[in-house]
Amino acid sequence: MPATVLVGAQWGDEGKGRVADWLARSSDGMARYAGGDNAGHTVIVGDQEFKLHLVPSGIIHPNVRCFMGSGMVINPNRLLEEIDMLAGQGINVLPERLHVSSRAHIIMPGHLALDGAAERSKGDESIGTTQRGIGPAYMDKAGRSGLLAGEMLDPEGFADKIEGAVERSNQVLTTEYGMEPIPAQEVAAQYSAAAARLAPYITDITYAFHELLEAGQRLLCEGAQGTLLDIDHGHYPYVTSSSSTVGGALTGLGFGPQYIDRIVGVTKAYCTRVGNGPFPTELLDDSGDRLRAAGHEFGTTTGRPRRCGWLDAVALGYAVRINGFTELVLTKLDVLSGLDEIKVAKAYDLGGTRTTQMPLQTQAFEHVQPIYETLPGWQTDISNARQFDDLPEQARRYVERIETLSGVPVSMISVGPERAQAVLR
Ligand code: GDP
Ligand code: IMO
Ligand code: MG
Repeated sequence: MPATVLVGAQWGDEGKGRVADWLARSSDGMARYAGGDNAGHTVIVGDQEFKLHLVPSGIIHPNVRCFMGSGMVINPNRLLEEIDMLAGQGINVLPERLHVSSRAHIIMPGHLALDGAAERSKGDESIGTTQRGIGPAYMDKAGRSGLLAGEMLDPEGFADKIEGAVERSNQVLTTEYGMEPIPAQEVAAQYSAAAARLAPYITDITYAFHELLEAGQRLLCEGAQGTLLDIDHGHYPYVTSSSSTVGGALTGLGFGPQYIDRIVGVTKAYCTRVGNGPFPTELLDDSGDRLRAAGHEFGTTTGRPRRCGWLDAVALGYAVRINGFTELVLTKLDVLSGLDEIKVAKAYDLGGTRTTQMPLQTQAFEHVQPIYETLPGWQTDISNARQFDDLPEQARRYVERIETLSGVPVSMISVGPERAQAVLR
């Protein structure tokens, strides 16, 4: 049974790209199943840094075939920029190894404009989206008025459809938001040029993908965003518009659960969140600033400072339930070095009642108070640790405590952003 699904256990940016790069060593194929260029996955190999938004992180490994699934929403211009950037970094991004599902949806300029306009109109209640047009593109998908990547294979029809779509979004932009219309013909010409370049990549990925699975080759499904940003399982409306949890891999790529034998949850050793919405363990004082500085917590996609806080084991326990993790990967343990004490939320106080279940109603979640357990920190640099025993006792205790609280074994500990900076267990 050859598929591994990798899922963020928190609010995104857990280090999925870094872990996917590690797991790619034993994978034949890698697929992104949901989201779009709201994702930003960083992989560091030697002195090269790769920032991937759409293309699966496996592209960096020459022998891994990469798939972009039907559950994705793709901005063609951004995809071309990424392909060019990767090619410029010496990566083979030819259509023989990068396949884009003909049923992925296309992000258009109207989606970008509407994302911005909707956010501005919400004022204090904005979601804090990445403004990549993700929500409006999925709205068109669910409303059955979207454009599929496969349309790019019919150049003439495509230009007409783009023009029509721009005119439809212009209706809303001008009447509802009082904005200038987007020039439809100009956009159609630009998108047609992008379509001509992308056409060789677009295919019905299903059969190619299943051939790989049936041949017993190993496939890694690289999740984007995180469990707490999932459209169904996060705190609505402070979520993204896709299924970022394990189920999204099945629907976004199109295969049955019998192929999955590993479900890897990626969690930081603390928590971050970028964008708005409740975050019970957020540190609004100097200690939050310290985590942000030590962990370089600035968004890969938008550059926004990430909100930082202690690890939330209640939320992690929820992610374990939603996804059925068979193992956890703990990232950024090195960032905690030098702290006297480390806190973990092991329960919440909700209106005077103690609970270890994360409230799913956003309003209730906004009011929980974390109940912390305090563990001793360590003072030594752990970034050169490669064996569990290389870690100071306090760090080992912290890892073991996370295993006990989550009920899931930690199979790998990342102690730095570089490919080799990992402790395997
Ligand atoms: P993703 O969206 O889940 O792939 O994560 P991002 O790439 O957006 O953010 C993770 C950041 O942490 C990147 O800058 C990584 O290079 C970095 N990183 C990943 N693992 C580690 C680690 O173990 N230690 C440190 N210090 N940085 C890490
Ligand atoms: P990766 O894959 C962190 C957040 C946004 C916002 C909310 C909705 O790098 O972990 P959207 O643009 O999707 O409509 O924004 O979701 N968000 C992410 N936060 N990492 C991501 O991706 C994210 N993708 C979306 O900040 O709060
Ligand atoms: Mg990211």
